[in-house]
Amino acid sequence: MMDFIDLKKQQKLIRKNVDKRIAKVLDHGQYIQGSEISELEKNLSLISGSKFVLCCSSGTDALVLGLISLGLKPNQGVIVPSFTFASTAEAVCMLGGIPFFSDVKLETYNICEKSIINSINEAKKIGIDLKGIITVGLFGQPSDMDKIKEIADHNNLWIFDDAAQSFGAEYKGKVSGNLCQISATSFFPAKPLGCYGDGGALFTNEENYYRIAYSAHLHGMGENKYEYDRIGMNGRIDTIQAAILLEKLTIFKSELFKRKKVADQYIKRFLTLNTNIKLPKLIKNTTSSWAQFTIQLPLDCNRVKFQSLMKQKKIPTAIYYPIPIHCQTPYKNFPISPDNLKNTIKLSKCVISLPMHPYLSSKDIDYISSTADDIIRNLV
Ligand SMILES: Cc1ncc(COP(=O)(O)O)c(C=O)c1O
Repeated sequence: MMDFIDLKKQQKLIRKNVDKRIAKVLDHGQYIQGSEISELEKNLSLISGSKFVLCCSSGTDALVLGLISLGLKPNQGVIVPSFTFASTAEAVCMLGGIPFFSDVKLETYNICEKSIINSINEAKKIGIDLKGIITVGLFGQPSDMDKIKEIADHNNLWIFDDAAQSFGAEYKGKVSGNLCQISATSFFPAKPLGCYGDGGALFTNEENYYRIAYSAHLHGMGENKYEYDRIGMNGRIDTIQAAILLEKLTIFKSELFKRKKVADQYIKRFLTLNTNIKLPKLIKNTTSSWAQFTIQLPLDCNRVKFQSLMKQKKIPTAIYYPIPIHCQTPYKNFPISPDNLKNTIKLSKCVISLPMHPYLSSKDIDYISSTADDIIRNLV
């Protein structure tokens, strides 16, 4: 079976230096709050153009910390897409907030501006005090931030970008992580910038948000260690993970370029084959970090069969995401946009992600696309 995400090839390239950096941490012994963390934060600030960066324990915790900074209180509402990973909505619930589920666009998989407006109108009707919007750069492409910003400004809402998958991508010349008031990313190993465990980061240009998140990730610490300004959490990143990320950062840009080349080749191959699928589309002036290469199968193509036939040909596939968050038991009773999230429901039935990583060879891409094409033709 080929790898869906091949982390071994990358590790081979950087292993010696990763070992050196880990050895350095073992030598100085500052496993918690070591100097590698502030060095990493500085580098991430340079890459993203974001003034303040706080590294923390995971992408999920970065979302929670960001919401604490934004001052989310129990029973306040936040618009979130339903076609996403659980963390986006979970973070809102962790603070007692109400996720208000909105639809995504079929072409980009990202939150739909019309559905946001529908949700705002509905929230007014049913008396939910909306405070903000969480956008998600699903599969690597940032949301259409200018359009969303216009709606947010008009309705006095903040925007928080969940860039767990899209960190490093660009939107109109700005880097994801710096597209709105505050952004979060994840360093989960399979992410475009992943560590060898859990980790995440929060990005902002507003010093006050940074200060609150900083305090909250150290149990709400005040001026001194055992004096508290707020209720917080243990949200620290390990020094060893920061050391690993410092090494990973040295190849991050070249890996983003390689991912783009893989995506371009997939698209070119499928277009030549004239396969009956919907290919991922980028909006104008936007790049993707290509966390995933996700296609839409024709609705009459049996996805379970497609996956098992691909598996027989030694090609792994994955479904992100088979059940929309608003349809899952713990989230069923939260409000949804009156458009009923039709695109989200449709996508959850037909999306499929193909192997994607920077070291996928041309030969493999050709094999995957022609095999997928053959199988789809036989199934519909
Ligand atoms: C869109 C999205 N948000 C948040 C997260 C949470 O990140 P983590 O696993 O680091 O907590 C993920 C990670 O899978 C994600 O894909």
